Amino acid sequence: MTENQHRSRDGFGSKIGIIAAAAGSAVGLGNIYRFPCEAGNNGGGAFLLVYLFIVLVLGIPTMLSEFIIGRKAQRNPVGAFRALAPKSAWPLVGFMGVFCAWILLSFYSTVSGWTLEYIVKAVGNDFQGKELAAIERDFSDFHNLGWRNVMWQSVFIFLTGFVVFNGVKKGIERYSKILMPLLLLILIILGVKSLSLPNAGEGFRFLFHADFSKITGKVLISALGQAFFSLSVGMGALITYGSYINKNDNLATTALSVTLSDTLVAVLAGVVIFPAAFSFGIQPTAGTGLVFNTLPMIFNQMQGGYFFCIIFFVLLAIAALTSTISLLEVMVAYLAEELRITRKLATVLASAATLILGVFASLSLTGDTKFVVGRRPLFDGLDFFSSNILLPIGGLLTVVFVGWFMGKRKFFGEITNEGQLKLKMKGVILFIIKYIAPVLIAAIFINCIR
Ligand code: PHE
Repeated sequence: MTENQHRSRDGFGSKIGIIAAAAGSAVGLGNIYRFPCEAGNNGGGAFLLVYLFIVLVLGIPTMLSEFIIGRKAQRNPVGAFRALAPKSAWPLVGFMGVFCAWILLSFYSTVSGWTLEYIVKAVGNDFQGKELAAIERDFSDFHNLGWRNVMWQSVFIFLTGFVVFNGVKKGIERYSKILMPLLLLILIILGVKSLSLPNAGEGFRFLFHADFSKITGKVLISALGQAFFSLSVGMGALITYGSYINKNDNLATTALSVTLSDTLVAVLAGVVIFPAAFSFGIQPTAGTGLVFNTLPMIFNQMQGGYFFCIIFFVLLAIAALTSTISLLEVMVAYLAEELRITRKLATVLASAATLILGVFASLSLTGDTKFVVGRRPLFDGLDFFSSNILLPIGGLLTVVFVGWFMGKRKFFGEITNEGQLKLKMKGVILFIIKYIAPVLIAAIFINCIR
């Protein structure tokens, strides 16, 4: 590719544009749905503590490394590694990322579809006056209607494809800029409500009281997987977005802002879910139902709950959409640039591939499912494999590449915008990327699989 072609790549318009788009990728179902599930299954406070540590010490350097690779190489993940390390095996890391995007998107789109079902339920005032048992029954009945799940999932994949079809700048920036702050606002309102419910203190304690004896190998790997999942790192989404960042944007502060916003939303989601769940008698280990049953119960108790419920699920669907866009974009950028096909054709192919695997993920959650791996539904298997195995390995290889193989000159050049920024911490950042991050990620990973 020539310099000229590089310049003509679709990019992000402004600084707030890239932060909004990367935060749009990061903030999604991972924060509002998956974080409470994982925290609930892994002891609450102990999990939160490990999670926060991992986000700060491992998440930020990994995100920064992805931005550096992407912006330096100006290509999709496979092409980026090939450009920076020609004639080596590194492009395989990019491939792994594209493969991981496919797996992630196929089960992520299942849950994304649920948000659409819940918008319809909210508009139809379906929850009002219902007891917990009825709300729980509705949720599991919906799961058993496998094809209804598939229908919503298809709609969601179609919407994602539609935005990606129309290109990066117009599509992604526009959605993220306004709606993210709105989501934050509604979470704060919900958090206040949740904390005022009877017996809320118990749930609050569950989330914030860390019992160190509960930190096991499983808690560590789950927190690592959740941190990378939530930050969208370890599979090239942010290499792809990095390739659209302007040469004069500050990569380090962008990584910091995105990480802080993402983490704030996750913790807030915890503050909304746990106090309310404990108040209603929903177990923190309830898994999928934890969030989808707790929320309607909160709205039921709120003044104006009908409207809040609709707004909330619409925003949740949009938050999911800005994440699915970034996942599909990884596949599309790869197909379009490496196979040299048009973006439009690439979008159609990537969406179709996602739907094929996605259908099995959705159908694996029905009561009489045949789609199981080991003893769990395919849905859980795909989630576990991508989040707890592929993302940590991808993240590890990414920091190793930037720390050890890319070269100090390129690293400092990229992080300081070729000397324009006076970044005092640059030595420390390199030290973390080179030594601390790889050692810790590897230690957690090996400890869990042995
Ligand atoms: N970070 C997104 C979320 O939390 C999910 C995601 C993972 C998106 C990996 C892109 C890449 O919902």
